[in-house]
Amino acid sequence: MRTPVIAGNWKMYKTPEEAEAFAAALHDTRLPDGVEAVICAPFVALPALRKALEGTGVGLGAQNVHWEREGAFTGEISVPMLRAIGVKYAIIGHSERRAYFAETDETVHRKLKAALAGGLVPIVCVGETLEEREQGRTKEVVRQQVEKALQGISAEDAARVIIAYEPVWAIGTGRAATAQDAEEVIAFIRDTVASLTDASTAAAVRIQYGGSVKPDNIRELLDMPNIDGALVGGASLDPASFIKLVQAAEAGDDR
Ligand code: 13P
Repeated sequence: MRTPVIAGNWKMYKTPEEAEAFAAALHDTRLPDGVEAVICAPFVALPALRKALEGTGVGLGAQNVHWEREGAFTGEISVPMLRAIGVKYAIIGHSERRAYFAETDETVHRKLKAALAGGLVPIVCVGETLEEREQGRTKEVVRQQVEKALQGISAEDAARVIIAYEPVWAIGTGRAATAQDAEEVIAFIRDTVASLTDASTAAAVRIQYGGSVKPDNIRELLDMPNIDGALVGGASLDPASFIKLVQAAEAGDDR
């Protein structure tokens, strides 16, 4: 059975102090054991957050990572640097990075390989734009993103990857995909992983949904057989809301 993973993507929000205050609020609640909870914070908040999250069971994630270990890459952060400060996960290829920072399927693939080689769990984002959906191209687009990301990755490594299906039109719009629509694409992603690796690897890979996930719609999404968690932006910024999301994931972990 796949352990559900609820990851907050804070994007460009929260100073180190604000991150500490968030973590302090988590200490009053015991989070469920059967759910993997993660916060992906801005780089500068990670050291403070690592300390502040101790004892909460919440894992630490970055929102980006470079594919080289070191070198003349001004402004970039490498896998070993993140590992050195206790980071376990890294979001790779978020649609905002693809749209605003020129990330491509090729750079996503390189980052994914580097993350796996260096012991980080990659959270690879895929998803279609509104225009692509309206043109009926959702599956074609998502298949290409998944295939290029996982190209040449061994089945053993692929099993450690988390994939986040985030339709671009659902991000920050308050307009989440319906649970049925998300399930359809996520089942298709799982089939794509099977075609690239094998059935047991595809059955092991966790696939999240992301895009306007809130405490009041997460349950119906997670009730779907192929949806193994959520990548959450806005609703992960408030500790009470984040706790509700993680607790909701436990309520269905017997499925
Ligand atoms: P929202 O939850 O704010 O729609 O953001 C989703 C997202 O982009 C998570 O990576």
